[in-house]
Amino acid sequence: MKFFLDTANVEQIRQALDWGLCDGVTTNPSLVAKEGRNMEEAVKEICELVGPDRPVSAEVIAVEHDEIIAEAQERAAWAENVVVKIPLIPEGVKAIKTCTDMGIPINATLIFSCGQALLAAKAGAAYVSPFVGRQDDIGYDGMKSVEQIAQMLYMYDDLNSEIILASARTVEHVIRGTQCGAHICTMGFDTLKQLFKHPLTDIGLDRFLSDYRALQEKLGG
Ligand code: E4P
Repeated sequence: MKFFLDTANVEQIRQALDWGLCDGVTTNPSLVAKEGRNMEEAVKEICELVGPDRPVSAEVIAVEHDEIIAEAQERAAWAENVVVKIPLIPEGVKAIKTCTDMGIPINATLIFSCGQALLAAKAGAAYVSPFVGRQDDIGYDGMKSVEQIAQMLYMYDDLNSEIILASARTVEHVIRGTQCGAHICTMGFDTLKQLFKHPLTDIGLDRFLSDYRALQEKLGG
């Protein structure tokens, strides 16, 4: 499973790259706004930082087909690894098809159901992004939609989208994503850090180090 970092924060991306745990980046307008930066400038910097082999999603703001296409072309020209994020609305689905025909890779975003993923996949989206955490927030089991999407996509040779498990907020989300066949999990920096954590690792390491220090003292003294 690939790990994408869901952030527009360059320092977080730098750290994840250093750990060898960043296969790509997803941004959205809220994440860019959180950094208080111009989207073009931020996305260009991220694309350069991660290098040409790691995709970086940049979202359109437009909601009408022609404007979406114009923004998609603009974003695609920012760097060779830009993937354009388009929301799953009727004009968006139409734009996904147009962009795909033009050779612009698309990440279909704001997907909350298998039916929406099917529309995006039929339109040729390179990636479909079901939002798990946001479904959990309103009392649904968000992972169910990922399971259904995976089942559907693995069954049809003509549906070639990769699943990005999005809005992953917990270790459980990431692990269940691996079990149901999501190709990629995009997660915030806090979720990535949570994956390292287990109290027994900290306790075990403390004990290994203190036992060895005690041995050194004994041998040295
Ligand atoms: C996906 O590409 C979105 O940017 C993201 O995963 C949304 O996550 P959130 O629900 O934690 O904001």
